[in-house]
Amino acid sequence: MASAPQDLLLKSAPFYISLSENPPTPAFYELLEKHSHIPRDEADEHLEKVRDQAWQRFPYPNIGLFLFHSLGLSGDHLPFHSRTPKPPGPLINHWPSFSNSQIPYSYLSTRRIGRAYERILQTLKDGGRFLDVGCKLAPDCRKLVHDGAPPQSVYGTDLFSEFFDLGYALFRDEAILPRHHFIQANFLDRFHPGLGFLEGQLDVVHFADVLHLFGIDDQTSLVQRAFEMLKPRKGVMVTGHLAGNMRSGFRAASDDAKATAQDKIWEHSSRSIKALFEETGTRVGQIWRAECWFWRFGVHTKVEGKEDWPRGAEHGLITFIATRLSD
Ligand SMILES: C[S@@+](CC[C@H](N)C(=O)[O-])C[C@H]1O[C@@H](n2cnc3c(N)ncnc32)[C@H](O)[C@@H]1O
Repeated sequence: MASAPQDLLLKSAPFYISLSENPPTPAFYELLEKHSHIPRDEADEHLEKVRDQAWQRFPYPNIGLFLFHSLGLSGDHLPFHSRTPKPPGPLINHWPSFSNSQIPYSYLSTRRIGRAYERILQTLKDGGRFLDVGCKLAPDCRKLVHDGAPPQSVYGTDLFSEFFDLGYALFRDEAILPRHHFIQANFLDRFHPGLGFLEGQLDVVHFADVLHLFGIDDQTSLVQRAFEMLKPRKGVMVTGHLAGNMRSGFRAASDDAKATAQDKIWEHSSRSIKALFEETGTRVGQIWRAECWFWRFGVHTKVEGKEDWPRGAEHGLITFIATRLSD
């Protein structure tokens, strides 16, 4: 594939930031130190080097903003992570999607996400299989393996195989994660031969920052494809997170979405993403329940709007955990 256009490679682009503007969490540093054997005092330089290597080919927000060091599956990037001591006072389980100028108390929500992560980990230790769709550098696969999942249990797929090389460059774990578990494929292509052997074999399909690249029809196809890839039974899961909007609807696509998807994307609220999973389930004769949480940028997360790359008060990050309830 051709290199990125020169004007996109400018380091003055609004989404090319320094690591200190979006530093990794302690859990990510631990992953680099214990899984990848990169000492803490070399970690920042290493991350910046791999980011710049990736930027030459993929000058998109996920790379420029260091979003690839997010360990979203475990909820590590969320406020009130389960490792946070429980604050005093009553616990309120919030669903802040539709109101709320105050900072709601999110300890219970994050704890639920952390517990789902523990459940996934146990499933993999018991012989289950996990696929990260649009995995890019596949940090969540590495985190699962570091936390005890067998390396044979995790798979990643992406449109671009260069990301797999960048993932190995970042995590230095070619001796741990089998290369043939990273499969170059278009997940929308139901007949792609590379993924056929996993059809009906998976326990968890994960979409981290992927669904927001697509319009609603393709999102529906991606979810339906995920359902087909899972074992045909109760308890299987689709997990992930995406950029959301408190008011769902069509918006113009960002540059990175244009690179892989289409001009108009469908931005979800937590209510509409819940409907996407549950209604797609109904259409294919399965019962699905999705739990979704909306984390407002700059309110629940440290990501805030910038003058030249605005994030409105209506924007946020949605985390979802969808579970099949019917056999
Ligand atoms: C914004 S990135 C998110 C990457 C990663 N999951 C993360 O959280 O760091 C979206 C990824 O989805 C991949 N992608 C886009 N469309 C895809 C498709 N149809 N099939 C497989 N991967 C796709 C892109 O190549 C890109 O790596």
